[in-house]
Amino acid sequence: MAKLQDKPDQYGVVGHPIAHSWSPFIHGMFAKECAQNLTYRLYDIEPADFRREALRLFTSGLRGVNVTLPHKESAAELVNEMTARATRAQAVNTIVLQKDNSLLGDNTDGIGLIRDLQDNLGLELAHKRLLILGAGGATRGILAPLIDTQPAALVIANRTPVRARTLAAAFRDLYDIQACEFKDVQGPPYDLIVNATSASLQGQMPEMPAGLVSEDSVCYDLAYGRGHTPFTLWAKSLYAARVCKGWGMLVEQAAESFYLWRGVRPDTHSVLEALTRKA
Ligand code: ATR
Repeated sequence: MAKLQDKPDQYGVVGHPIAHSWSPFIHGMFAKECAQNLTYRLYDIEPADFRREALRLFTSGLRGVNVTLPHKESAAELVNEMTARATRAQAVNTIVLQKDNSLLGDNTDGIGLIRDLQDNLGLELAHKRLLILGAGGATRGILAPLIDTQPAALVIANRTPVRARTLAAAFRDLYDIQACEFKDVQGPPYDLIVNATSASLQGQMPEMPAGLVSEDSVCYDLAYGRGHTPFTLWAKSLYAARVCKGWGMLVEQAAESFYLWRGVRPDTHSVLEALTRKA
């Protein structure tokens, strides 16, 4: 008689919209590679229904979810407990159902970026000059892990400078971040420039002063998708040493979520290769 398979553990991602998410592909590959018996599905939940529907998912048997836009802040309010990095980010992208049925919220976005920069791209981050464009939720999520790398300088530039200053003030206990608007960013050139604005989504690139990019600069757009973004085109036009999009961060943050849920750390290289080939 055929042996009955154990029922797979259920996971998924909640967002709105969510149809184009790569997460089922990524976690499906991780599960196969690590021989984990699980399913991973998409859950499209409207903002007004987030709390009710997310709790329903957990009472109906889900073991964990990823949370993406626009629910990351709501998820921070939903969970019973948060890790230090999620508390800093004020946003949760991973929820774990714990043994006592309480919900733990974590944020793996920042560590995902750092792993991509250090492990995949081979960058040495300590004592570097860092410039971040944007002062929204995406920036908040990556700030603490970037500060951990002990930068020589860290500047946040934003269209609305008061948001950059507010963010700098919120992290003052960790680092003396400089905050300004785009036109006031000063050289010398930066070692790493991260685009964390959503300007690319509108096909825009903020106007930046000259002298910020050199032939040694790495320019990283958190956005991913086919082809160039206005930011990557800008960086290329200034002969940046490397110009990258956020595919690696996407895979690395997923790997960290997978590790939280399953206690196994998947190898990300084959997944990243498959993803960028497919996308
Ligand atoms: P997210 O959670 O993705 O960071 P957000 O909190 O809405 O989203 O923040 C979006 C960021 O992109 C902000 O820094 C925003 O600048 P403002 O604070 O001035 O709104 C920035 N942004 C969005 N559209 C932009 C554009 N066309 N040019 C420059 N910056 C833009």
